Amino acid sequence: MNVSSDKNRVLIFDTTLRDGEQSPGATMTHDEKLEIAGLLDEMGVDIIEAGFPIASEGDFRAVSEIAKNAKNSTICGLARASFKDIDRCHEAVKHAISPRIHTFIGTSPLHRAIPNLTMDEMADRIHETVTHARNLCDNVQWSPMDATRTEWDYLCRVIEIAIKAGASTINIPDTVGYTAPRESADLIRRIIETVPGADDVIFATHCHNDLGMATANSLAAVEGGARQIECTINGLGERAGNTALEEVVMAMKTRNDIMPFSTKIDTTKIMHISRRVATVSGFNVQFNKAIVGKNAFAHESGIHQDGMLKNRENFEIMLPEDVGLSGTSLPLGKHSGRAALRDKLEHLGYEVGDNQLKDVFVRFKELADRKKEVMDDDLIVLMRSNEDAENDFLKLETLRIVCGTGGPADATLVMNVGGESKTAICQGDGPVDAAFKAIRQLHPNTAHLSVYQVQAVTEGTDAQATVSVRLEEDGNMATGQSADTDTVVASARAYIHALNRLIVRREKSGVGGDVREVSYTDPS
Ligand code: KIV
Ligand code: ZN
Repeated sequence: MNVSSDKNRVLIFDTTLRDGEQSPGATMTHDEKLEIAGLLDEMGVDIIEAGFPIASEGDFRAVSEIAKNAKNSTICGLARASFKDIDRCHEAVKHAISPRIHTFIGTSPLHRAIPNLTMDEMADRIHETVTHARNLCDNVQWSPMDATRTEWDYLCRVIEIAIKAGASTINIPDTVGYTAPRESADLIRRIIETVPGADDVIFATHCHNDLGMATANSLAAVEGGARQIECTINGLGERAGNTALEEVVMAMKTRNDIMPFSTKIDTTKIMHISRRVATVSGFNVQFNKAIVGKNAFAHESGIHQDGMLKNRENFEIMLPEDVGLSGTSLPLGKHSGRAALRDKLEHLGYEVGDNQLKDVFVRFKELADRKKEVMDDDLIVLMRSNEDAENDFLKLETLRIVCGTGGPADATLVMNVGGESKTAICQGDGPVDAAFKAIRQLHPNTAHLSVYQVQAVTEGTDAQATVSVRLEEDGNMATGQSADTDTVVASARAYIHALNRLIVRREKSGVGGDVREVSYTDPS
């Protein structure tokens, strides 16, 4: 292996901004991508797959800027097996201190049928394109997409071609989440034993979670000899998602006795980046998600609490502090000042400038007036709902609802539309329906409401409700989130948040793109 002298060092390749962002509805803005890349760089990710530069102007710009900003990580872009893709990818990543081109082609029988190439034609294509990439960049990764459903002999043949053409990392994707742990380990082990030149390259594992085995399959691949895990924060990704970074990293750290592998990840940064990715992607983390779920370190039942008090190891295999959760969480209240708020926010991983602190403080005071104790989770949602606000085209000013049992609800809603204050009075089938109708009256649109979700953030009747809304319109998707002690207000704000994001997306339409949807082009 040519990258690290430590044979048990596992490289972490994060693809939140490429495979994760490709997930329908998870599109991020340019600034959000830059922020997440900065956090990945800071937490010690070895390689950041920053996007798919040929997919759109937006992707190209994001990858280029991430490449320019990166301080430690290698910056990688994705390219299909075409000279045009590879050239565009190189243009974007070349600014990085350490650039990488990742080129791929589907090698299984089903995927070979897409470009309609014979096995020999595809082998030639792999040779030409990897050679081309290697002439542009010293660091080339090659992937046989759908490797786990590719014929064994053909898989070995094409891997050998890619190694000879100069690829230094060979990624073995389980594109459809089909493999299982023992098979995943065996596949890598057999490839390393069989393919000439395999000892000179790094093998990577890239698993999808369709059968819920992505983490297990990735760790098994490492047992088999892989030394790069491809993963995303919160397991974000198409369908059931990709391998979750936090799961593989914490598994190797916690069970280092049986998995003696190391990474360079600063695990104390996990919670903060998890929250940021959840916010900017609009994909909430399920409460019982391993490592980063709200309940992952919560001990509610009396027996557990008693056991925890006697000895935390009774029920805890990891320290909350190791993933960036503060051990003690003292709530703030209405008498807390700006300094206390800033201190708490910093503790939660938010760096706020003076202006932002001023805005957040106003909202914090409003909340503290309604709620006796403002908990960490309240502050996290408050930070989320404070985003975007300044440049928003639509802003909720006031909302009044009159409703009773059995009858319709009446909403009087005042909204600022592009700088002008407008009022709508609407009747609906319940308060949320009435509020949404009033918003639509003031900003007519054809967006379809595909997700409406309410969650309580903290306990008690004064708990904040966080509402997530997803809207779809002409192929564009946008999610919005908001929190308030009043569920109807949170709903109206979340709906308006999603509309604002849809407006931005409409303006930039064409941004994003699925590697499988872009038509195949010949190398030229
Ligand atoms: O899942 C997959 O096969 C991919 C490739 C592009 C590596 O994401
Ligand atoms: Zn993938």
